[in-house]
Amino acid sequence: MLAFLTLFLLLVSATPPPPRALSSSPDRFLKKSSFQSHHHDPQEYIELGHPLPFDRLTPSCTVDLLHHSFADTINRPPFTVPYSPPSPSVCSRPWSRVALDFHAECRGDQYDRVAGLWLGGAELLRTTTAEPTESGIFWRVRKDITRYSSLLVQSNLNVTMMLENVVNKIYSGVYHVKVTLFFYRENVVKVPSIVSYRSYSANNLGFNSDKVYNPPADLIMPISDDGKRGFWYRIESESDLHFKKIRFPRNAYRAILELYVSFHGDDEFWYSNPPNSYIRLNNLTTSRGNGCYREVFMTIDGKFIGSEVPFPVIFTGGINPLFWEPVVAIGAFNLPSYDIDLTPFLGLVLDGNAHEIGIGVDDGISYWLVDANLHIWLDRGSSKVEAKSVVYVNPALRVDRRENFKLLDGEFETGARRKSKFGGWVKSSSGNLTTVVSREFKFRNMIRFDNNGTYKSVRQRVKVKKAVKVRNEMGRVVTTVFVKRNYPLNVITLTLPDPKKKKDRYMLVTNVSHALKEKCLIGMFRSSGINRQVSNGWMKVKDHSVLSGEANTTQIYSLRDEYGCYYRAVAARNGRLLSDNTTLSCVSAS
Ligand SMILES: *[C@@H]1O[C@H](CO)[C@@H](O)[C@H](O)[C@H]1NC(C)=O
Ligand SMILES: *[C@@H]1O[C@H](CO)[C@@H](O)[C@H](O)[C@H]1NC(C)=O
Ligand SMILES: *[C@@H]1O[C@H](CO)[C@@H](O)[C@H](O)[C@H]1NC(C)=O
Ligand SMILES: *[C@@H]1O[C@H](CO)[C@@H](O)[C@H](O)[C@H]1NC(C)=O
Ligand SMILES: *[C@@H]1O[C@H](CO)[C@@H](O)[C@H](O)[C@H]1NC(C)=O
Ligand SMILES: *[C@@H]1O[C@H](CO)[C@@H](O)[C@H](O)[C@H]1NC(C)=O
Ligand SMILES: *[C@@H]1O[C@H](CO)[C@@H](O)[C@H](O)[C@H]1NC(C)=O
Repeated sequence: MLAFLTLFLLLVSATPPPPRALSSSPDRFLKKSSFQSHHHDPQEYIELGHPLPFDRLTPSCTVDLLHHSFADTINRPPFTVPYSPPSPSVCSRPWSRVALDFHAECRGDQYDRVAGLWLGGAELLRTTTAEPTESGIFWRVRKDITRYSSLLVQSNLNVTMMLENVVNKIYSGVYHVKVTLFFYRENVVKVPSIVSYRSYSANNLGFNSDKVYNPPADLIMPISDDGKRGFWYRIESESDLHFKKIRFPRNAYRAILELYVSFHGDDEFWYSNPPNSYIRLNNLTTSRGNGCYREVFMTIDGKFIGSEVPFPVIFTGGINPLFWEPVVAIGAFNLPSYDIDLTPFLGLVLDGNAHEIGIGVDDGISYWLVDANLHIWLDRGSSKVEAKSVVYVNPALRVDRRENFKLLDGEFETGARRKSKFGGWVKSSSGNLTTVVSREFKFRNMIRFDNNGTYKSVRQRVKVKKAVKVRNEMGRVVTTVFVKRNYPLNVITLTLPDPKKKKDRYMLVTNVSHALKEKCLIGMFRSSGINRQVSNGWMKVKDHSVLSGEANTTQIYSLRDEYGCYYRAVAARNGRLLSDNTTLSCVSAS
């Protein structure tokens, strides 16, 4: 029976699906390594971001976290090595900052791959790989991981990295990864120097949440899987919820959930998925459906506590791989994580019992990789604090969907809005503080098919507003966090027949523009940033391989914060960086 089943599955998957219209949808492609031949030396890939304020300081010590080659790793357990912190005799404490330096290189043919890095089951970095070339590519990611200090001081933890790769006769690229930690003792000073900012993709995307984790939490508890296939939960459908039982220490006075998320398979381009009615009535074979609305949500004992519409990160094989060389899409090397302040809910969980924290994806289809780190701050002055949850306003989400189509052409409009407010007080040895967390997001998406389904345009707007206010017993505001973010996205794909009329080939004209804009006020610190990419091009495709093409990408990254202004503009064409300008004055930080 089993043998029969296996054979049957093989037969099914060996039959190519009939080429039915939706080839004009965003898809994942392989850039053949032989195609770009103007490079002889390995080429550096970058993701634009701002430098870390301590980049130019000399670290007081360095720890080699892991060094591994990820070849045919699919369906294997993740790579694991023991971790131990630098010895205090070499690297005296306290450290003021810790940076993670991720270095990867690869050559040959390979798809983009997703990877996760965990310490003691808590995620430190979610990243995706760049598709390599024949002469090889390499890249670096630097990330401030000071917020994980309570884990970084521990011994007897494992470092785990999962990077599911396939190496065979077709896909030759092996990803060689090296991760190093730098520990800094000195106080942070930013020395303005343009040159030093060029050589790597230091970044934080503009998600300026480091201050929210300052000082770092006393305890970090992973809301993650058992680690046999990596610590992320794999979510295959809307009903696929994952739970972790957590016993909160009774002297917790502050808590933040840090959510890590990436989307793959049929939901890699979730923002462009048409409703199932369109797929069904046109007899399409694609499984990329279920509409375009997705929301990752979290619960405590079944009660909704927060959610995020994720920033739509495009991986390096996505839509048109020629766009993402050597400058990858926003967030591709350092996916954003999202903070959900749980302090208003401490009143529900400080009873010494275990409570169930859940993660799910509204409307999600296969598959999402999701986990979270629970950061907890403890009251040093007492073994037990008092807390009560007092405000819970969370009207049901309304998703408006309009569809108007005839055969393969038509329009789909989706809108959603969520506005919630949670409040609670915590009485610890630093007083009785009331925390109110307000969140609002607006989601709009318009998908249009034209020319008998060969033209597709996707226009999405996501606006997020978050405010955290902490008041003392006199009603005076003692802490404020205010964050406003916009994620506009436009994707156009037009499928044309091959100019030489070859049946197995087609042309794809693609345009993508997307941005991440953020304004923050955290305590006394204000920042505002913008990261915008515009790409135009076309490619000739056979199956999923890019045979030839042309692409232009321009990007600006600008951040104004308490250290000043940082502005970088790059232009790339056909795999080459045409210009790369950095200034330390805000030219057009609109
Ligand atoms: C529209 O596309 C479908 C599927 O590709 C095809 O069968 C049909 O002939 C096309 N119609 C026109 C008017 O081109
Ligand atoms: C670390 O990994 C090793 C090998 O996989 C395993 O035997 C050990 O139990 C792990 N230790 C912890 C603390 O998870
Ligand atoms: C889809 O298939 C059904 C049943 O075979 C057929 O009646 C219908 O005309 C098809 N629709 C389109 C748009 O091809
Ligand atoms: C803490 O402050 C809140 C709001 O001012 C108040 O309702 C609550 O009773 C106080 N708790 C304690 C234990 O004093
Ligand atoms: C893509 O953008 C370019 C430049 O703005 C424009 O000329 C072209 O028509 C666009 N392509 C499509 C398919 O819309
Ligand atoms: C790329 O930009 C150059 C210079 O502006 C232009 O000549 C070329 O047509 C562009 N190519 C594409 C595919 O948009
Ligand atoms: C970089 O600066 C040069 C010279 O001022 C200018 O010609 C070029 O357009 C700039 N590049 C970008 C991407 O802004």
